[in-house]
Amino acid sequence: MLSPIQKRKIEAFAKKCASSNDMFHDFSHLQHVAKNAVMLAKKEGADEEVCWVSALLHDICKSEKGNHGTEGANKARKFLKSIGAEDSFIEKVYDAIYFHNKGFRKGPLERQVLWDADKLQIVGPYWFFMRHLRYTLMMEGQEKGVPHSISEYRFFEARFHTKSARKIVREKAKLMRPLFSALIREHRKVHGRA
Ligand SMILES: [Fe+2]
Ligand SMILES: [Fe+2]
Repeated sequence: MLSPIQKRKIEAFAKKCASSNDMFHDFSHLQHVAKNAVMLAKKEGADEEVCWVSALLHDICKSEKGNHGTEGANKARKFLKSIGAEDSFIEKVYDAIYFHNKGFRKGPLERQVLWDADKLQIVGPYWFFMRHLRYTLMMEGQEKGVPHSISEYRFFEARFHTKSARKIVREKAKLMRPLFSALIREHRKVHGRA
């Protein structure tokens, strides 16, 4: 069990580390993922504190060189040791962060919850348009970014571990299908491949 002081230190550390991230991976992303993670942990019977901490710390090395899952897991481990968290707790957090960007694979429930909580950040019209599409456009420009963001959405849509996340994704799919059809149709017109 984490103490209130440890919790406050974790939040402050996450905020400080995320201050050098891009706007799509800032502290508010960590907070949204943490909210998703706690919601999923409650429904799935995962360890809520492990999920909450993993989510708050999962992108703390997003702006640094190297693999941000690997680097982030190491940095989180070091930090959690420094505030006196238990070793078994730290290793669960380490595992979830290490694997959150290494493809869809089975593992401990908390690892699956973090994966789902993070990927829910692109699901549904709001997060797709406000976050995922804008991020892809920033990285790839309009011509490539639009179709790529849609194909990525479809890729991740089929890769959620938990029943609770899959239910959310299914509900949102009803809204996304007509939006994607319209977006693809108009994108083709704009870029001369009607
Ligand atoms: Fe990440
Ligand atoms: Fe993330």
